[in-house]
Amino acid sequence: MRIGIVSLFPEMFRAVSDFGITGRAVSNGLIELDFFNPRDYTTDRRQTVDDKPYGGGPGMLMKVRPVQKAIQDARKSTGPARVIYLTPQGMPLSQETLGSLSTDSAMILLSGRYEGIDERLIEQEVDLELSIGDYVLSGGELAAMVLIDGLARLLPGVVGDDESVIRDSFYDGLLDYPQYTRPERLEGEDEGSEQSRVPAVLLSGDHAAIARWRVKQALGRTWERRPDLLARQVLDDEAKQLLQEYLREKD
Ligand code: ADE
Repeated sequence: MRIGIVSLFPEMFRAVSDFGITGRAVSNGLIELDFFNPRDYTTDRRQTVDDKPYGGGPGMLMKVRPVQKAIQDARKSTGPARVIYLTPQGMPLSQETLGSLSTDSAMILLSGRYEGIDERLIEQEVDLELSIGDYVLSGGELAAMVLIDGLARLLPGVVGDDESVIRDSFYDGLLDYPQYTRPERLEGEDEGSEQSRVPAVLLSGDHAAIARWRVKQALGRTWERRPDLLARQVLDDEAKQLLQEYLREKD
């Protein structure tokens, strides 16, 4: 996937290009990041990229021309690509949106700074506006990195096979079940208590029982923490029964 990035702070993207799973995807060539800094497309000596809003009000806005020229250059490098503007005004980013964007071979991400961008630029150049949540960040870069990270995980060959199996399993759309690693029992003040031990079923070697327990936990957690997610699911009889079991065990 080729990603053109229009940003005043390209260095920030080292967080994804130089570390972890996304870093590996970049060095393997599964993701290519190309940067286009609007400041490089200014024509005045001071390299002005912002200006005051018409009608008054606080803060500054990004000017049309430098951003537009950066996008046009990005298009030359990516070929046909959607232009996505990261903004709190956008459609909320979801796993479903990531899934549908992950099949695009190229995209251009526009990260704003200041109080925003001149609306005419958005109307002329932007295909999709995305928000990563109902809060305001000081720029779109972190949001663009969230998008890149979420997309990278969905590209074939980026995440190992085991993980992709879990991701594709039927309890998608629910929160994850709790996980444990060694030691089996934590030493310390609460030694012997329930909380210091790994749930016995996970040590049983009974794979069917483990799978059942995990689905039950995923359903229960989603019910407790994110009933909105559960409301969107159609639960089959087995899932309903597992959730009832979870609730009974809790009492
Ligand atoms: N830029 C600033 N805040 C943002 C948000 N919540 N989502 C996407 N882009 C942003």
